[in-house]
This record gives sequence, structure tokens and C-alpha cells, in this order.
Amino acid sequence: MTQRKKTPQTQYLADYKRADFTIEQVTLDFSLFDNQTIVTSKIVFKKTNNRVKNLHLTGEDLTLLSVSIDQKETSHYEVSDTGLTIKQVPNEFTLSTQVLIHPEKNTLLSGLYRSNAIFCTQCEAEGFRRITYFLDRPDVMTTYQVRIEADKTQYPVLLSNGNLVEQGDAGQNRHFAMWHDPFPKPSYLFALVAGDLACINKTTTTQSGRDVLLEIYTEKAFINQADYALGALERSLKWDEETFNLAYDLDRYMIVAISDFNAGAMENKGLNLFNAKYVLASPETATDKDFFNIENIIGHEYFHNWSGNRVTCRDWFQLSLKEGLTVFRDALFSADMTTKGYKRLEEVRTVRDHQFIEDQGPMSHPVRPSSYIEINNFYTLTVYEKGGEIIRMMYQMMGAETFKRGLALYFERHDGQAVTVEDFATAMSDASGIDLTGQFFRWYTQSGTPTVRVNSLYDAQSKTYKLTFSQHHLPTADQANQADKQDLVIPIAYRLFDEAGQSLCDERTIVLTESEKTIEFGSLSKRPVASILRNFSAPVRLHFEQSIDDLHTLVRFDDDLFVRYDALHHILKSAVSQLIGQQTTPQKTPQKTPQSIPQSTLTQLVGTYEYLLTKDNTPAIEKAELLALPSLSVFFSLLPEHPLDAVDQAVKTLSAALAQQMSEPLQARLSTPCEHEEHDLSFAAVSERSYRNACLQLLSYAGDTDSIARAKNAYDQAQGMTNRLAALEALNQTQSPEREAALSDFYQRFESDPQALDKWFAVHASADFPNTIDTVKSLATHPKFQLTNPNKVRALYGTFCMRNLAQFHHPSGQGYRLLSDLIATLDTINPSLAARMASPLTQWQRFDDARQDLMKTALTTLVNLQPISDDLYEIISKSLA
Ligand code: PHE
Ligand code: ZN
Repeated sequence: MTQRKKTPQTQYLADYKRADFTIEQVTLDFSLFDNQTIVTSKIVFKKTNNRVKNLHLTGEDLTLLSVSIDQKETSHYEVSDTGLTIKQVPNEFTLSTQVLIHPEKNTLLSGLYRSNAIFCTQCEAEGFRRITYFLDRPDVMTTYQVRIEADKTQYPVLLSNGNLVEQGDAGQNRHFAMWHDPFPKPSYLFALVAGDLACINKTTTTQSGRDVLLEIYTEKAFINQADYALGALERSLKWDEETFNLAYDLDRYMIVAISDFNAGAMENKGLNLFNAKYVLASPETATDKDFFNIENIIGHEYFHNWSGNRVTCRDWFQLSLKEGLTVFRDALFSADMTTKGYKRLEEVRTVRDHQFIEDQGPMSHPVRPSSYIEINNFYTLTVYEKGGEIIRMMYQMMGAETFKRGLALYFERHDGQAVTVEDFATAMSDASGIDLTGQFFRWYTQSGTPTVRVNSLYDAQSKTYKLTFSQHHLPTADQANQADKQDLVIPIAYRLFDEAGQSLCDERTIVLTESEKTIEFGSLSKRPVASILRNFSAPVRLHFEQSIDDLHTLVRFDDDLFVRYDALHHILKSAVSQLIGQQTTPQKTPQKTPQSIPQSTLTQLVGTYEYLLTKDNTPAIEKAELLALPSLSVFFSLLPEHPLDAVDQAVKTLSAALAQQMSEPLQARLSTPCEHEEHDLSFAAVSERSYRNACLQLLSYAGDTDSIARAKNAYDQAQGMTNRLAALEALNQTQSPEREAALSDFYQRFESDPQALDKWFAVHASADFPNTIDTVKSLATHPKFQLTNPNKVRALYGTFCMRNLAQFHHPSGQGYRLLSDLIATLDTINPSLAARMASPLTQWQRFDDARQDLMKTALTTLVNLQPISDDLYEIISKSLA
């Protein structure tokens, strides 16, 4: 098995060479059985370089049965763990191989595997080599003809990419289907599915009048949860045609929901495979947020048909070419389906609360990395989300219309090709006249999060106001090839207000290219309030000292949701920091005198919250985002100079105080009757629920008997999952009989619904109680828990280790031991999941010395595992370097 290679090999972008052969076409034949699968391939090769003698193909975990060239069996080859080399091949020939594989034993969920009783594939990035010997690299594109043969009763549905060309009986209760995909594609977009599946479908029509059949396939028991996904798919097709003039190009678009899936979903040509979590939903089993994610991911995979499939990546270093662009496209889509501010805040949180942390840690890398050991480890927030932010900056600098022309030029120029990030930047530059290939391009090649400092100076005499912007670049862990950080091109949107929140100018954007720049405003009779980095116009850390009064003005009156949200977080951070100050001064009699927020701070804060609740006319869905208190993890990032325990204590004090003070207006808001039915998924209904649940959540921080009763009542009244889960999460803050009762009711209801049951595991794992770790250990032996199912691992262990900061980082170190034991086991089952689960340990730099030692001990145990996968080795060794 190649995940057990002795010496991990580093791959370098600089070593890229074109393949010595092209593939003219490929024919695959799959004979599926319960205990083995036989794959027969016929591949037509042509040399691109006549001096080359041998053909090397990649292959992993394959048992070679036969090799022939132009129909003659040959023995002029060598097989190794990683591939097959055919000696002295002619300039043009057909190679046939037959291999035996074992999908039924494949727990890696890469290549051909079984999930429940379904055969399915996952080939990105390098899974195709686990199916047959091939040039498994994205710049080798060809057309596929695929024949699948399997038992009729167990596998009535047989799917692959493209068009169904033939199907029929194969004797012995077996049948076959033949599929042909007319579009040349790289092997990572190949897909096959065989199973006893149910299907719903709908025909939609493109603007040019062509019919397209849209189909969603699921296990039979869950087909009644697929309607929303089908609607989302239709909306995606319409949106891409209306927005970018990009139409679908095959007659049929299929989505299959799979229970065991490493990622969210996969954009295989014409046959997407999805994690069931992002397809299946009903108002009883899924929250509004789940529906939102489903629509977003269906859009994402659909948009890949152009940004990824029609134009693909030359090599895996270019991953952000398709992912960054598609993330940005799906963001525009979701913003159009909800509100711009709502979707933008979601992105801001992902970038600041997670991607920035990745950049600070041992895995820091540029959006286009220049080396990797295991490409699976580079499906990161940096490649996806920061990559998306780069595209957003282009969009911001050139405007929507020019951006559309740029995208059209890119697709026209490179349709059917495998290209680089430079090719994209060049097309966008040519269309816009803005150079994105020079200094701007450093966003792709330089790792790390830039800091932008802003200094302001008001001069009452001359009535002038100056803003000085400067950019700073800290060293990152990958400094070997990243030592020399250079200045970037940073678009910073800003606007000025007066103290009463009246606008003093329209929004403008300064594009910072130099290390420092000052802009000056005249005729200002009073010091203005500056609103900076509006809509998070660049993925940077902003350092701008503003007075608490100014911050309150922004929260109340700014028209930019991001700036309001950020200002509110600064206010809260300052309150927490005041509390910590009290904690650390006279520590003689710890915890005797309860800490309290200074009355003036509290009064002003409550005033702003009351303003939000009663006077502000922001859309409800956006207001809910403002009302939600940041997590401990966010506070901890905002206050890196304080120990976790101190921040945790102070945040609890602050939340309780706010909940008590706000109790009346919150209850008043909650006592107004609902305007919408719980099963109503309209935007208005979703907005109303999000707002009410934000109020309920805030109220629950009081933790008194009233709020427990209120949450229990909300749980009992709930009809849909959104309200049910919100109530359960409120109850989950107390170790009360009401919480126990609700949890057991939840289990009874959803025992047989895997997606809903994941929430039950996650709620347990997120409880901030000292005994949660024991609960996690015991749930790991629950009959519904399976280590081979990534969703279950993420729901139970992922939630505990990544979302329950206080308990995972318990000073005893037992959380770290739990995780390292898990990772050691997972590495023998599913290395790419094992490597992903290691990320909480790799962030040891953020913690105090005692915790650092414990985390490093856990990492050292892991790095010494024998054997260890390349996936895990890369992450762990880099985090100890
Ligand atoms: N390409 C997929 C997406 O972003 C993600 C993915 C990567 C899925 C690797 C599986 C394996 O849409
Ligand atoms: Zn993608």
C-alpha cells in the first residue's frame, strides 16, 4: 500500500514537465462483484516526444492480471508499489491492462469503494490510480467510454459520466450499462456509481432552448429528502446562465448522495458525488443553515462545470485556479439567494477565524503552494477561501461588468485546456487593463496574513483629517522559501461618518501598493468616525485604534454589516479585557469577589443592543449575526496575550451579565407571535427564525431556572429542526434534567436519520462540562457511531476537539491524549481524515507553556507511529519542525 511509502517524497512546482504521451481515448470495463472488481482498460497513447522509450503509469493497490500492446500480450514491463513501466513502446499504440481491486475493503474512500451497499468513486486528486494504471495527472485529458457490469438485483442503477449509450442483460442475473462522455477530461473527474438507488428528476431548459435532465439519486429510504437539492440545482443552472452567460453542456446532470465521503462534494463531469449531508434535508431533520449549505454546495459543484471542468488545472499546485474561482462564484450565488451582508459575514468568519489561524501555524502556505508531500493536505482554507478572497479583490478593483468580460475571455481562450493561475491572471488583466500579473500576483505566491495599520489624525485648526495606511508582513512557518515578504496590492474600502452616524462621503477604495500611504480630507468641522475595510475588502488583519464611542457609533449607524460586526466585537473584546484585568490584579483570594463589568461599559453596551433590538431596521437575518456573541475561540484569538482559562472565565461573566441586563427587551421580542410556519423555507421565514433564535440564545446565557424552562418549552414546541436544535443548544449550557430529557427525546426521534443523529453526537461533544470527555469516550462505542464514517468522526471528535475549546484544552491534557489515540487508529483506516483531525494539535503555538508541552508530547507520539501515512507524516512533522 502506497500510503506506507518509506521516505515521503516532496513534489515541487518548479519540476513541472509536460507528459511524454497524450491519451487519445480510453475504454474502461468494470466487472463488479461483492468480493472483488475486475477493471479492464484500453488506452490509446501517442508520444509527444519521440526520444522517449518507456511509458510510466501510476497505480496503487492494484493487482495486475495482464498487459498487452496492440492486442498482443507482453512481458516487457515492471510493476512497483506506485506504478507500471512499459518498456520500449512504439510511437502510437493501444495498451490494454486488466487489474483486480477490492472496493469492498477500501476504507480510504479514495478510488473505487463501497458506502453502505453502493459502489462509488472519488478520484480527486489522485484516486484514479487506485482504479487502473494511468497517467493520473490533470493535464492529461481524454474521452471516456465506460462499461459497468453488476448483479441486477443488488445494483439496478449503474451510472458514469456523460451519456447513457447502451444497457442490457449480461446473463446470470447480471446486467450492464455503457456510458460515453464526449468532453475530454482529466482522470480526477471520472466517476462511477452502482447501487439500489431511488431517483427524483426534473427537466429544465437552457436559454438556447435545450432540455437538460436533472436527477438526484439517494438510498431509497431517503429519497423524500431530496427535493430541496433538486430545486437548488435548477437555481444554480439558471443563475450561471443569467449571471455569467455560462450554460450546461450535457443532456443530463446527476447528483448521488453518499453516506461515507471524505469531503463535502465532488464535481465529476455530469455525475457529482455528494456527502449525503449536503443533499438530504427536510424541515424536520435539517436546520435552515443546513439548507443554506446544501444550496451553496450544489451551486459550487455545478459552477465547477465551467471553472474546473471545461477549463482545468495544469497540475495540483494550481488547485486554487478552480477552487478559489468557484468559491467566489458560489459566494455571489448564495449572496443573491439570501443577502450580500449575510453571506459575506459567513465568509469573513471562515477567513479570519480559521484561515488566519492556518496561516499562523506550521502549515502556512501560499494560495499557490510551491511544494507538497501529499496533495490531499492542500485542500485548505488558504487554497479555497483565501483563493476566493483574491478573486473578490479582482472583482472589487475592476467592477462586476468588467469581471464578467474577463471571465468570458478566460473561458474563450482556455476552453478544453489545463492551465495555470498565471493564465487566469493574464486573461483578467487583458480584459480589464489592470495588471494582475505583477505585484498583485504576489497574493498567490506569498504566504501569511498581511497586517494593515491605520493611524488617524484630526486637526481642528485646519479642519483636516488624515488617514495613514501601512502594510506589514510577519514571517511564516514556511520561511525556507518565503523569507523575503514583499508588499502586496491591498484594496481598502472606506467611508467617513460624523459622531451621529451621518455620512460625510460616499464609499471609496484606496489601493495600497506601497508600504505606507496617507490620504487627507479637508473642511471637516469635527473629527469624523472612519469606517475602514468595508465589506472586508481584503483578507488582512486590521489594526486601527478607535475609541469605544466611535465603535458604538459604527455598530449603530454604519451601513456596512462587516464594519458593524467588527466594531461590536472590538467593544466586546474590550469588555472581556477589562474583566481579565480585574482577575489578574489582586489574585490573593481567587474567585471570592465576583468580577463585574464596569457599570458605564455595561450601560453603553446594553444601550447598543437595545438599539439593535428595537430601533434598527437591518434585515432580521443580518441582525441575528450581530446579536450572536463570538465563540470562546474568537475571543481567544482577539486576546492572544491572555491565557485561555482567563478568557473563558471573563467571557462567561460577560455573557451572563448581558443576558441578565437584556432580559426584558429580549423576552418582549420573543413574546411577539411568529409570522411564519416552521416548515416555511421562504427567506422571510428563515430570517424570522434566525432572529428569534439569536434572542433565545442570548437570553440563555443567564443560565437561571427561567431560561432553562423557556428553552425546554421551546424544545417541546418545536416542529422543525431549526427551532429544535436552537432550543437544544440553549439547554446544552446547563447540566439540567431538562437537557437530559431533550437529548433523549432527540435520540428517539432521529435514531434512524444519520444526518440528524450527527447533531445529537455534536451537541453532546460541544457541552462545556468537565465530564464531556467521558461522554465522548462512551459515545465512541455507541452502536450508531462508526470510525469508518467521516461524518460521524467529525460530529463527535471533530466537535469536541475543534469547537469545545475549554474542554479539549483541559489542563490535564486528557483531551490531547484522546485525540492522538484517535488519530493513530484513524491513520490505519483513512489517512486523509487522520491528517485533517490533527489540526487542533498543530496549533500549539497559541497556548501557554504547560499546554504546549502536552500538545507536543501528543505530536511526538504520532510522528513516531510505525507505519505512518504520508498524509499524517507531512502534517505532524511540519508542526514539530
Ligand atoms: N473538488 C471538490 C470541491 O471543492 C472537493 C474535493 C476534493 C472532494 C478532494 C473530494 C476530494 O468541490
Ligand atoms: Zn470546489
